[in-house]
Amino acid sequence: MNNSLVLVRFASIFGLIGAVLGAHMAGAGSYAFRPVHAHILVVGWLSLFAWAVFYKVFKIEQSVLTQIHVWTAIIGSTGLTIGMWLNMVKPFPLPEGVTLLFYIGGGVTLLISFITFFLITLFTKK
Ligand code: HEM
Ligand code: HEM
Repeated sequence: MNNSLVLVRFASIFGLIGAVLGAHMAGAGSYAFRPVHAHILVVGWLSLFAWAVFYKVFKIEQSVLTQIHVWTAIIGSTGLTIGMWLNMVKPFPLPEGVTLLFYIGGGVTLLISFITFFLITLFTKK
């Protein structure tokens, strides 16, 4: 499956979950989910969507770097938002170490994704 299609499918899932969370916050009048909602949408929906379009608009050859970029983007945004939810909303009485593992692990993975994306743009020929 090509990068654009994988990314846009995950973007649409994030978009759906994020919008439902926004609607829930508005309805419940509780903003506990605000940072989770914000990251699901700006990272999961908008950034993954932007990258999906990037792979469609630019002619990028498939490489180890593009595979790392795409999968760290997906795993990182999932890990970061689940980690934020577990750590900030605290739906389960999990030890701090466990919630931080998701939160920091997801955040670091997402950073790797942004770094590889930067490298890919450098190596893209005119
Ligand atoms: C689809 C694209 C969307 C994006 C990118 C987005 C993004 C954001 C961001 C970044 C924040 C945090 C703002 C802040 O820190 O003050 C936020 C807050 C919020 N969003 Fe969304 N949002 C979207 C859709 C929605 C939808 C569809 C709803 C409701 C149906 C919604 C309801 C809310 C609510 C209630 C807050 C909390 C507002 C507050 O803190 O005062 N959002 N959103
Ligand atoms: C690399 C991992 C990241 C971590 C660990 C992280 C962490 C955080 C934290 C702790 C906050 C404050 C939340 C609060 O109000 O309690 C925040 C806010 C925010 N971040 Fe991130 N972030 C990351 C990546 C990103 C990225 C890539 C974007 C944009 C594409 C982004 C967009 C935002 C926005 C719009 C807000 C304000 C939303 C709000 O006030 O609820 N973040 N972030």
